[in-house]
Amino acid sequence: MHVKWIEVTGLRGFTGPCRIQFGIPNGETGSGLTVIVGPNNAGKSTVIEALRALSKPSPPSFSEGQRNVKAGSRVEIRVCNSEDITKEIRTTEAGGSETEWVNPGAWPPPSQIFVLPSRRTFQPFFGKSLLTREQFVTAYGLPPVRGQPIDHFSGRIFQMQANRDAFDRVLGRVLRPLPDWRIELADNGTYYLKFDFWGQCHNSDGAGDGLVSLLFIVDALYDSQPGSIIAIDEPELSLHPSLQRKLADLIAEYAKDRQIVLATHSPYFVDWAWVVAGARIARLVRESSGLVSYQLTDKYLKRIEGLRRNLNNPHILGLDARGVFFLEDNVILVEGQEDVICYRQIAQQLQIDLPGEFYGWGVGGAHNMRIIAGVLNELGFKKVVGLLDNNHRAECDLLSEEFPGYRFMTIPADDVRSKPEIKARDPVYGLLDEDGTLRDHYRAQMTEIFRSINSYLSPDATR
Ligand SMILES: Nc1ncnc2c1ncn2[C@@H]1O[C@H](COP(=O)(O)OP(=O)(O)O)[C@@H](O)[C@H]1O
Ligand SMILES: [Mg+2]
Repeated sequence: MHVKWIEVTGLRGFTGPCRIQFGIPNGETGSGLTVIVGPNNAGKSTVIEALRALSKPSPPSFSEGQRNVKAGSRVEIRVCNSEDITKEIRTTEAGGSETEWVNPGAWPPPSQIFVLPSRRTFQPFFGKSLLTREQFVTAYGLPPVRGQPIDHFSGRIFQMQANRDAFDRVLGRVLRPLPDWRIELADNGTYYLKFDFWGQCHNSDGAGDGLVSLLFIVDALYDSQPGSIIAIDEPELSLHPSLQRKLADLIAEYAKDRQIVLATHSPYFVDWAWVVAGARIARLVRESSGLVSYQLTDKYLKRIEGLRRNLNNPHILGLDARGVFFLEDNVILVEGQEDVICYRQIAQQLQIDLPGEFYGWGVGGAHNMRIIAGVLNELGFKKVVGLLDNNHRAECDLLSEEFPGYRFMTIPADDVRSKPEIKARDPVYGLLDEDGTLRDHYRAQMTEIFRSINSYLSPDATR
């Protein structure tokens, strides 16, 4: 049994119902992942908090500050399972902070959902207790304010020590070499974690934020069962990029048969291979109507599979390109990597600042622009510019027709760069001459093109 979607209404920034489809695990790496991306304050953590509310056996209370006035100060969190049966938490008839369950017996049971907020900290000196996964999930409270230490985590630390081999095996997938760690008793009767990095010792208070955060994440994974649901807010917190990559791979492996929801600002946690396998990306954005969620449909997922097989252009979907999901908006699509470099040079020579970011190292040829523009469109990007060579006018017209809200333009030359004649090809006279200087007779037209991009991308431009 799996979660198909969750719908949040009236919690924090969510005014109307906002539905997020979940990745369904099918045995393939990453298939059970749901990755929530979007700018700051777009509601990512709120979705994680909504899942946390579903992990409480008794209906939670929501303070006034957590409720959205535009939604009548009423909260509704619905979850639908693979048998199309829904259960929900909703504000009671009388209103106020109190909620009630509707159909509480439906799958998933609260104990199946394990949620980690961002800012994962615990009291470094703690009392003795031992909590199983289920006991911990039901024991830790929903903090009324964000960023507090996670209570009862010490119970999990004693559990980690009891299952040390299993825990270290998973931690060692990300952190190598593994530090030696153990629980120690202080003279005042409290306990602490002691870490030993090749003779350099410190207690839990001295542990780096990244290490502590990783302990929480590995704890959420290592004793989970297939079918369980794990949500992690900002898994990348305080982690070095190479650890982020290893952690992302570890999480993707667990997502073969578990559902894992991540809210992230890190491109390491989005991989197109996982998306093609079934993972879902949800991009949350704030619009005048409130917070909105955008997700890719099968139409583009199929076309992405084709791009993934393009061995000559692995960067089309590479890390630089994935960075685009973490931008606010204003994306400039160009044909290839030379274009990215040369248009930057031209803008510099014309002393015009372009208020947008180039998509990775280009889209890998004019023919791919429709796929990338389509992906951006489905993910709710409002302002996208495409610059094509003069000899791709027909493609430019088709793009303008398919994406009327976006702006596609051809440059006045057949290429950006000039190229010498080779046997099978006539010479190409590009915008830039052989020394990389913009040819004088293109200055006026390129200024015009860049100015028009600017007026489209600037926030006050009318569309
Ligand atoms: N009671 C409330 N009513 C309306 N909007 C709220 C309320 N509480 C928080 N918000 C808004 O909800 C959003 C919270 O988003 P959050 O989930 O923290 O975003 P993210 O994790 O994406 O940064 C913010 O835009 C904030 O302005
Ligand atoms: Mg957040």
